[in-house]
Order: sequence, then structure tokens, then C-alpha cells
Amino acid sequence: MTDEWSHGVTASCDEPPPFDTSVAHVARVYNYWLGGKDNFAADRAAGEQAIKAFPDIVLSARANRAFLARTVRFLAGEAGILQFLDIGTGIPSANNTHEVAQSVAPESRIVYVDNDPVVLTHARALLTSDPAGATAYIDADLREPERILEGAARLLDFSRPVAVMLMAILQHLHEEDDPYRVVATLMDAVPSGSYVALSHPAKDINAEAMAKMAESLNKMMAEKVTFRDRPAVARFFDGLDLVEPGMVQASKWRPATDAEAASPAALWGGVARKP
Ligand SMILES: C[S@@+](CC[C@H](N)C(=O)[O-])C[C@H]1O[C@@H](n2cnc3c(N)ncnc32)[C@H](O)[C@@H]1O
Repeated sequence: MTDEWSHGVTASCDEPPPFDTSVAHVARVYNYWLGGKDNFAADRAAGEQAIKAFPDIVLSARANRAFLARTVRFLAGEAGILQFLDIGTGIPSANNTHEVAQSVAPESRIVYVDNDPVVLTHARALLTSDPAGATAYIDADLREPERILEGAARLLDFSRPVAVMLMAILQHLHEEDDPYRVVATLMDAVPSGSYVALSHPAKDINAEAMAKMAESLNKMMAEKVTFRDRPAVARFFDGLDLVEPGMVQASKWRPATDAEAASPAALWGGVARKP
């Protein structure tokens, strides 16, 4: 990391930007579902309405975190990946990407990206790298992948494999945002042998409850959601080689325990390698 880059990140942490707490935001609603304390009344109200529509959302959010940890363990271990670009980081929780990756390979380098001002205020917690590796944080929007790639290139070497992590974020990109182009732009920038790992709320698992929850969230939350069905999520992996067991319900992707496998997660998830 250059001095200019680290200074920029640190300075942002010292002066948290003002943010509107009267409207629910996804990072804080998700934090509420996970049992965190970084949320406000509007986030809790939206979170509760969503729970009414789809009571398994809390288990689904936990299953998503467990899926994230399993995919990072696979990527840093079996796949030998030492560089991660984690877009839509969320408020720090248990098993953040750098903690899992560096527990397997301490020299791992991780760039976190999110566009939520509250996540930005927590960036310092994400920058506690193992001295053998490094972490950085970029305040940016997934809809501007070129900007993300430019910033990430300060820490990551794009001539070597990178794992692009898109965990429970693509539902906030709608058709007009051209989400498939966004993912293709990211994957075009990384070399052969790179990976993408993603999870996405499913429109076709527990369909009725998921539709009700989407309707409720779209009334109350700043970031609207578009849930997608299996073929629409599978399209994000076009041109890439899915690793076993392919794109599946996230809880069924290499579960570590029977309890993980049994989770009623309404999410599609998969990991794929760029040939
Ligand atoms: C549901 S949380 C998922 C957090 C984490 N990836 C996980 O799976 O545990 C979605 C995160 O994506 C971020 N996000 C949503 N839309 C975004 C965008 N257009 N650009 C960058 N971040 C975005 C939110 O601020 C939030 O932190």
C-alpha cells in the first residue's frame, strides 16, 4: 500500500460522513438479522417486517455468512488464491473475508468495497491485517466496476489470480444497471485461474414468502431488491467453470456440518473458475 492510499483510508475513518438514519439501509438491516448492534429504528422496523413475510430470513442471513466462510476457505486453501476483491462487504461480522483467508494463508491480500457510509465508518476493523498480508477498503459503487478495479489495482496484482466475491449484493443491481455486464467487466479484468464466488437471494425457493419479503423491503429500504430465479443467477457464471457441486442452494455448497446443510437458506450460491 502506498502512503497516499493508506492515508486516504484512515482519514475517511476519522471523519464519519453524516448519514440519514430515518431510512432503512441494507447493510444495517442485514446487521440486525445477524444479531448485530449497528442498526437504527428504521432498519429494525424494516428487518421485522421482512421477518413477518419470510420468517426464515434470519437463518438465511446466517447461512449466507457460513457460505461466505466456506467459499473463502476453499479459495485460500484448495484453490491457492491469495488475492480477494470483496464487493458489498457489509458491516464487519464474524468470519470476515480477510480473517478466514489469512487463517489459511496469512499472506492473503484483500480489498473490501462497499457504498454504505456506515460500513465505511467500520473500515478500520476490516484493516486489521495479518502483517504477512494486507487489506484495504474502497468506498465505491458496484455499478462503477471500472472505478473499483482502478482502486483495487493499488493493492492487488491483476496479472495474478484474484477471487471476486459478490455475496448477497447483486440483488441490488436491477436490469437497468446491467448486472451481467458489471460481473463480466470484473471477470474480464482478472487473469485465467481467477474465481468468482457469489450468493444471490432466490426468487424460486420459498417463492411466495420471498415475493412478500421483496415487496416489504422495497417499501421500506433505500436499496431496492430484485430477487432472481435459478437460470437468472446461473447466467452470472456464463463462460466460467463452476466448481463442484455447481450452483446450488447456498447451504448445500460443501456444508461443514449437517446443521449447515439443513438450513432453509433462500439463496443460490456457487464458485466458478475463469478458464
Ligand atoms: C446483504 S449485505 C451482504 C454483506 C456481505 N457480503 C455478506 O454476504 O455477508 C449487502 C452489502 O452490499 C452493499 N451494497 C449494496 N449495493 C451496493 C452497491 N451498488 N455498491 C456497493 N455496495 C453495495 C450494502 O451496503 C451491504 O453492505
